[in-house]
Formats: sequence, C-alpha cells, structure tokens
Amino acid sequence: MRSYSLIAPAKINLYLEILGDRADGYHELVMVLQSIDLADQIDLRSISTDTIRLHCDHPQVPVDKTNLAYRAAELMAELFPQALAQYGGVEITLHKRIPVAAGLAGGSTDAAAVLVGIDLLWNLGLTHSELEELGAKLGSDVPFCLAGATAIATGRGEQLSPLPDLDHIYVVLAKYRSLAVSTPWAYQTYRQQFGSSYVSDTVSLESRSARVHSGPLVNAIARKDRAKIGQLLHNDLEKVVLPAYPQVLQLREAFQSTGAATMMSGSGPTVFALVESQVQAEQIKEQVKTIMNHPDLDLWVARFCNTGIQVASSVK
Ligand code: C5P
Repeated sequence: MRSYSLIAPAKINLYLEILGDRADGYHELVMVLQSIDLADQIDLRSISTDTIRLHCDHPQVPVDKTNLAYRAAELMAELFPQALAQYGGVEITLHKRIPVAAGLAGGSTDAAAVLVGIDLLWNLGLTHSELEELGAKLGSDVPFCLAGATAIATGRGEQLSPLPDLDHIYVVLAKYRSLAVSTPWAYQTYRQQFGSSYVSDTVSLESRSARVHSGPLVNAIARKDRAKIGQLLHNDLEKVVLPAYPQVLQLREAFQSTGAATMMSGSGPTVFALVESQVQAEQIKEQVKTIMNHPDLDLWVARFCNTGIQVASSVK
C-alpha cells in the first residue's frame, strides 16, 4: 500500500494588524507569519475502501468532521472522485507535537499536509497555487502552511507574499495546557471593542498594507536584524485577549521580565519570545518556568525554519 509521512511545522505571528471587518464576517488583516520547527507528523496511506479514517495520538483532538484535516481529505474526495475510485480511500494518523488551540496554526498545518499527501497518494500533480486555492477553502492560515517560511499575509490571511528567510532565530514558547482561546471570540470582541469599520475603501486598505510591505519590520527581516524584529513585534488581538485572560497577561509579563522581545501568537494563548541562541533560549525557558511556577504550563524551545509541508518518507 502506498504511504507518505509528512512534516507539518507550526507558525507564529511576528505581526498581526486588523485593518477592518469585511462583509463576509472575516477581518481584513496584514500579518507577518513565520514557520518554526515545532512540527506535527502526518502519516497517510491508501486503503482499499473508499473512506476517510482519521486517528490522532492526542486525546483532545477530535477525529471526526470537526477536524480540519478530516475536512481537507473530504474536500479532496469530493473534488477527485475518480482518483478516490482508482486509488482507494485514505487513512490519516496525526502525531501531534504542536499544542492544540494555541494560536500556532496546528490544525491548519495538519490540513495543509493532508492536501499535499493526498495530491501525492493520488498522483494528482496539483500546482502550488491550486493547493493554495484549496487550502483557502478550509481556513485562512492553510495556504501559508503549505510553503511556510517567512511571508506577509493579507486579505483574510490567505494572500501571501514571501519574505527573505530568517532561519537562525530561536523561539521560546509557553502555553497553559488547559487554556484555549476561541479565534472567532477574539475577532468578534475586537470588533465590538474597537469598532473596526466595514472595509469598503480599497485604496486606504492597500495603502495601509503597503505601509507594512515597505515598513520597518520588513526592512529588519531583509537585514536579518533579530533585535530590531523583536522591537517591532505587534499583535492587535493582544488588546482583547490579555485583559480577558489574566494568566496570559502574567505569562507575557514573565517573558518581558527576562528582557526578551515577546508577543502573543495569533489569537493566543501561546506567548513567545525571540532569542539569539539555543543556550539563551534554554535559560529564558527555565527563568519563565521558575517565575510562573505553574504545573499546567508547557514550554518549548524551537527555531525559525524556512520550510512548509515536507515529505519525510514514502512507500510507493
Ligand atoms: O479562517 P479560519 O477558519 O481559520 O478562521 C477562524 C475564525 O477566525 C473565523 O471564523 C473568524 O471568526 C475569525 N477570523 C476573522 N478574520 C480573519 C481570519 C479569521 O474574523 N481574517
């Protein structure tokens, strides 16, 4: 039986600005996204029945249609019924390393891996832009997860422009195991509190996202200036998540007290810090662990990476 094993990296947001809300209920964003080497492994194999089976080693992750990875497989089966008939169904196993509901695109990167894996299993030969288009149907972060690395994302987050690679920077991440923040809640609360207006003025929208394209963060990325990148981290969703979740605020303050550049990723609740070396990363991880002294707090050290979904092994 044919099988593929894929590596699916997490992402962090170096920048997230909400430009306004849209008629479709989403928000117009400008973000700078970065892949990190904290990654899930996704195994896919052909099976003789024309069904989709999903397994996961993490007890909190559903294995039904509510899982984006399942929906990715379902989308492929709907679009390519002949391939399903020819090659059979798919058994998918998710080996979760990326924390769940964390603001790190764990579900989106698994879905991206399923698109890539089924394209390979069924010999579809889809182009990268075709995969991106399918990814955008599943979720705003899925297109970025396909190629990963460093990119500006606009629109809902699905329109991408690549930036130069930044693979030498280390990241310390921390998240309370039992804490999850709902992404729709974070955006809705932002809309209620900050009254982001309906985006009808495309000129002002373009000029606001152009400001980021040619702005200081993108310049710092081009110069690979970690210290400057650290100073320019930004996330509008902190304005609603930190006041509503005092534990996340405390964690943010603990990171700040180490002197490292720190920010919440996406809609949270993961908080991260950027650091120069692995030694320094391990030190900051220990410092934050000691300051917080909480049995429910998980911490990781990771590194920026310049890859999206990658094939680790295959049996053809
Ligand atoms: O696209 P995705 O399904 O990942 O988005 C999850 C939720 O986050 C959406 O249902 C929406 O509430 C919110 N969101 C938004 N604007 C975006 C992206 C996400 O309001 N650009």
